[in-house]
Amino acid sequence: MAPVRQRRVPLRLTCCMQAVARDAGALIRKAFLLPAHSSTVEAKASVVDLVTETDRASEELIMNRLAEAFPGFGFIGEEAVSAAGHLPALTSAPTWVVDPLDGTTNFVHRFPFVAVCIGLCVAREPVLGVVYLPMLDELFSAVHGRGATLNGDPIRVSQQDVLGRSIVAAEMGSQRNAAKVAFIVDNLRLLIGEPEPVHSIRCLGSAACNTCYVAKGALDAYWEHGPWPWDFAAASVIAREAGAHITCLDGSPFAIDKRQILVAATPALAQRIASLLVPLQA
Ligand code: IPD
Ligand code: CA
Repeated sequence: MAPVRQRRVPLRLTCCMQAVARDAGALIRKAFLLPAHSSTVEAKASVVDLVTETDRASEELIMNRLAEAFPGFGFIGEEAVSAAGHLPALTSAPTWVVDPLDGTTNFVHRFPFVAVCIGLCVAREPVLGVVYLPMLDELFSAVHGRGATLNGDPIRVSQQDVLGRSIVAAEMGSQRNAAKVAFIVDNLRLLIGEPEPVHSIRCLGSAACNTCYVAKGALDAYWEHGPWPWDFAAASVIAREAGAHITCLDGSPFAIDKRQILVAATPALAQRIASLLVPLQA
């Protein structure tokens, strides 16, 4: 067993991540409760890839607070990357990977699935994750090897292994070229139709919310092609620690920089979905 001092390191980190996520969440909640037209909305990489002043304010708060508490750690945040115009390589040094507001489109429309995501990667692997949904006051948290919690209580995936009894999340994402639209529509058709239609499809509008809802057993699976490392880093630790099986869409090993995810309650369900999905034609 690790010495007491070593065992306390994740605890100190997690406490800080939770406090910072709650404070960023309070900032988002305050803005969310103002009329929708009071947000300044800008488009980034496409007309459906949105950013608001609240995304930027949340990231500034998170970055400053984490740097103050743990100087020397790296930081990859969605809005800093967007401003710089390139994604820095993830090194083996401890690095925060942060989405200050996952579900910006939801935020713009005042649909309550919005989340603050703070992940910590060590040796390029996500090892700690905190995801906070401020409008629902749900705080998901996980440490690699030590399980996942929701508001302090342990969570587990649903254990569903039959596609025809599953509720499955998918997303439209923010790339809408013809190939991507065909990819989404074709795969939704395969999942909702005969011979083994799923109970239903959900799009919560946030990669992190979908992944955490698989972790807590409210969804049985979620798949998407397109999200970024900050959409996955924190939530993937939470899902894994809750017992989820995570792969790429074809069933190959998952990595946060591969821009695709298939997360399912069981390996059997993941394999079934992976065998059904048609690949994106680049
Ligand atoms: C997006 C959301 C959306 C998903 C996209 C993400 P953002 O993140 O998670 O549900 O479909 O792939 O990029 O822009 O709201 O932070
Ligand atoms: Ca975001």
